Amino acid sequence: MGRVAELAGVSVRMLHHYDGIGLVRPSARTAAGYRAYSAADVERLREVLAYRRLGFGLREIADLVDDRSIDAVAHLRRLRGLLLEQRDRTDAMVAAIDRELTARAEGMTVTPEEQLGMLGARLYDAIGGAYPATRRTDPRIAAQVWDALGDARRVLNVGAGTGSYEPADREVIAVEPSEVMRRQRPAGSAPCVAAAAESLPFEDGSFDVAMAVSTVHHWADPLAGLREMRRVARKVVVLTFDTDEPGWPDRFWLTRDYLPEFAAVLAEFPSLAAMTDAIGARAEPVPVPWDCADGLFEAYWRRPGAYLEDRVRRAMSVWTRVGPQAEQRAVRSLRADLDSGRWAERNGDLDGLDAADLGLRLLVA
Ligand SMILES: C[S@@+](CC[C@H](N)C(=O)[O-])C[C@H]1O[C@@H](n2cnc3c(N)ncnc32)[C@H](O)[C@@H]1O
Repeated sequence: MGRVAELAGVSVRMLHHYDGIGLVRPSARTAAGYRAYSAADVERLREVLAYRRLGFGLREIADLVDDRSIDAVAHLRRLRGLLLEQRDRTDAMVAAIDRELTARAEGMTVTPEEQLGMLGARLYDAIGGAYPATRRTDPRIAAQVWDALGDARRVLNVGAGTGSYEPADREVIAVEPSEVMRRQRPAGSAPCVAAAAESLPFEDGSFDVAMAVSTVHHWADPLAGLREMRRVARKVVVLTFDTDEPGWPDRFWLTRDYLPEFAAVLAEFPSLAAMTDAIGARAEPVPVPWDCADGLFEAYWRRPGAYLEDRVRRAMSVWTRVGPQAEQRAVRSLRADLDSGRWAERNGDLDGLDAADLGLRLLVA
């Protein structure tokens, strides 16, 4: 018991308690006749401790680990999803705290709503307010997405945000979990349901096509969300990002030279191969036009000065994810290189390009 406690980083007393209440009972015996943890007991203990760390109560945990319909792999998947969601909320809280610190430093008052809002914040509830400043439909990207929708009439737009890529000439239902984003949808846009991709509140085959644009990397469980899209629609169209190629962060000068932290942000993100496999899709490159109208992370690859603007960065979740230290360092260093001409020297080859392949991919299934 002592060894197991040490490995798990908990006290022997806690293990005795779990044994006492029947939550994790050591079922094996040592040669000397002492009770010991079998491999299955250790697996169960690991699940109990992980759910505990996520804040579940012991009774709830007992129900979860006793559920015979969930095996170890399903528990790991669920734990992974919950942890990613927790990380998302942590990012959102850090962003909200940073905003409040800035507001206080500038002598501004913070309303009680704003103070409490931080606690239940989702990332887009925290950063979504800055989104409409620069995020809008780019007509060339939209044309590629709409072309992939084919002749579909009934369209589901998952992670719809403010609806930038929703086709106007079809019957659209949007799904968007963030209240802040839902509230910013323009008047007259498609009806929007408060739900998440991983659990779509629709019957099998309810839509001709399910689409998702620049959102999959935010989902707690991307593959589960993609399978849900597959379940509710006969066709799936997804604009996402390819991290399969080794050295992919070097594709874009911003991540290569200024923000290597971006790679860690996407470390948990599934490979393009896993995503295409999940829905049986093919992947086509989506070039980013040099004057891309949608202020997504890669949009300003030929207009580097834009990344120095706070309002441009605030509409890109990457900067919140990497945190203010990395952000400030990247911006300082980019500003210095633009001033000294070093950026131009290194990236002179971009000058004549109209569009660049920076890893955006359209999955069509
Ligand atoms: C970068 S925005 C993209 C919005 C829109 N599709 C567009 O292209 O402008 C990402 C959106 O994904 C949403 N999102 C985050 N987690 C989600 C989830 N689990 N399921 C569905 N949408 C999610 C966010 O709230 C946010 O509105």
